[in-house]
Amino acid sequence: MTEPDTTAGEPLLAIRDLTVRYGSGADATVAVDRAALTLDRGEHVAIVGESGSGKTTLALAIAGLLPLEGVERTTESFRFAGTDVVRVQKHTIPYRTRDMSMVFQDAMTSLDPVAAIGSQFTDVLRGVRRVSRREARTLTVEWLGKVGLPDGERVLKLRPYELSGGMRQRVMLALALCSEPKLLIADEPTSALDASLSRDVMDLLRDMTHRTDASLLVVSHDIELCRMYVDRIVVMYHGRIVDVVRADRVEQDARHPYTLALTECVPTLDSARLRRLPTLSDEARAEFDRVDTAPKVPETVSA
Ligand SMILES: Nc1ncnc2c1ncn2[C@@H]1O[C@H](COP(=O)(O)OP(=O)(O)OP(=O)(O)O)[C@@H](O)[C@H]1O
Ligand SMILES: [Mg+2]
Repeated sequence: MTEPDTTAGEPLLAIRDLTVRYGSGADATVAVDRAALTLDRGEHVAIVGESGSGKTTLALAIAGLLPLEGVERTTESFRFAGTDVVRVQKHTIPYRTRDMSMVFQDAMTSLDPVAAIGSQFTDVLRGVRRVSRREARTLTVEWLGKVGLPDGERVLKLRPYELSGGMRQRVMLALALCSEPKLLIADEPTSALDASLSRDVMDLLRDMTHRTDASLLVVSHDIELCRMYVDRIVVMYHGRIVDVVRADRVEQDARHPYTLALTECVPTLDSARLRRLPTLSDEARAEFDRVDTAPKVPETVSA
């Protein structure tokens, strides 16, 4: 059971100047460069950007899942659910809390490949609250039902490889949510899926987090899909957060040309008639030659 916190007026998550470097010295890669981000309770936010822009690294840094070796993480300020993480964890130690869960693109990364589904739920449920094995089993069947798997009694006896891809995604989501986190972080939950299954998974993410009152941080390269599901969009480019815009006002409020370039790369019936679709680099390069790409986010950003 999660502890009630007494910080109702404060954003759920507020980070400032978060920087992550892989390696050291001249060979170091600055994967996240002075990122600032806030997330309200119950808010749904997407992080979008091209491959290598630092989305996964930022998500892992927030979730406290960066490896201990070979990675340097510094932050000016990092508050989550009323806890001053910097003060508690002295800058470098990854912060882990049951109030955050993270799911990955490949469900097999999140699931133990050899353990039956039921025992994986029992481990999580018994880790967060005092329940008997019998109660854990009942709760597991309930959670499987909530994510659209009504035959939970059968599913909990199966191992991950005995499930279809879509079933695995649902099981992974239920497993992440059964600890009732305040924040669910999903890294590219749909990129391996076709368009219709992608929408099913996004529907599920939205509905389940609404139902449990959790906030959602979803990492994606698909800005158009995200716009239908989230409140705000955070745009990353070369490790920097270059824009934070309301999902329903991307065209009007985008401050960085890269954000508009992302939306312009989505094929439409008109652009499909062109011989070659405009690519992001075509769109972006000309603009980047003209504008400063320094971060343009205020210190705290809220909707
Ligand atoms: N474990 C690692 N060791 C060294 N460099 C890394 C590591 N993980 C990521 N990087 C580097 O950090 C940068 C950001 O990578 P990251 O995986 O965060 O990008 P991303 O936006 O999630 O990309 P994608 O859309 O392809 O998943 C890249 O330059 C990448 O090469
Ligand atoms: Mg990634």
